[in-house]
Amino acid sequence: MIGVFDSGVGGLTVVRALEQLMPSLSLVYFGDVARTPYGSKSSETILRYSRQNTEFLLEQGAKLIIVGCNSAASVAGHLLQEEYNVPVLEVITPAVDLAVESSKTGRIGVIGTRATISSHIYDEKIHHRRSGCKVISEPCPLLVPLVEEGWMAKKETKTILKKYLHPIKMQSVDTLVLGCTHYPLLKPLIASRIGKGVRIIDSSIAVANVLAEYLAAHPDFAATLRPDGEKQYFVSDTTDAVQSVARDIFNRDIDFKLAKVTGA
Ligand code: DGL
Repeated sequence: MIGVFDSGVGGLTVVRALEQLMPSLSLVYFGDVARTPYGSKSSETILRYSRQNTEFLLEQGAKLIIVGCNSAASVAGHLLQEEYNVPVLEVITPAVDLAVESSKTGRIGVIGTRATISSHIYDEKIHHRRSGCKVISEPCPLLVPLVEEGWMAKKETKTILKKYLHPIKMQSVDTLVLGCTHYPLLKPLIASRIGKGVRIIDSSIAVANVLAEYLAAHPDFAATLRPDGEKQYFVSDTTDAVQSVARDIFNRDIDFKLAKVTGA
């Protein structure tokens, strides 16, 4: 099986994308609800949590790790790839690749948490892939709590989104990266605010495609993953938001087990 971790349950958007593309993939998910949000924490703290989450998933038998959280991927993704002896994929690189391929004008918007945007990882990776791109990034710290409250269709959310997207819209981007686990749940609203000509890149779908390519290119490795489609969901705390966000993502209830990772 593969392992996916996130700072909470927003990373279930990654599981949804994996499930849609590869229904028989078995996986174990860990959502660090006890220590969420990561987006407002320091790099050192996010890195420590990310290592603990990875180790928890490896203990459960995961043979490949997906860092489903953009905030964790932005500060810890490359280090986890170096430190652990299993393949580690993360949500940022696939989204960058897709954004760069899709953008005709090279003007790319990125929205994410404060941790993700202030890491400048998207700017660096986009410029590395294609120099001369103009990247317009905007931290959107209020969007995660709005999604967790289920306020996807409220007028207050529309107003806040309009304010966040305004500077990006003013720069005439043709591509916008949703650089946070929760934003796919706001996709219709974001699409209508940013305008028709802008392609929206959903990092959860992008990483699912990359995993499918990886497994196709490594059939021996793919054969070691149980193909029974079993999914196990662990969280480090249970709160009201856990089941309601899960329901917003899957349209069904999820059977979460409580797990304490070291230090959580
Ligand atoms: N999972 C986080 C991300 O994708 C959003 C929630 C948080 O700040 O922890 O950046």
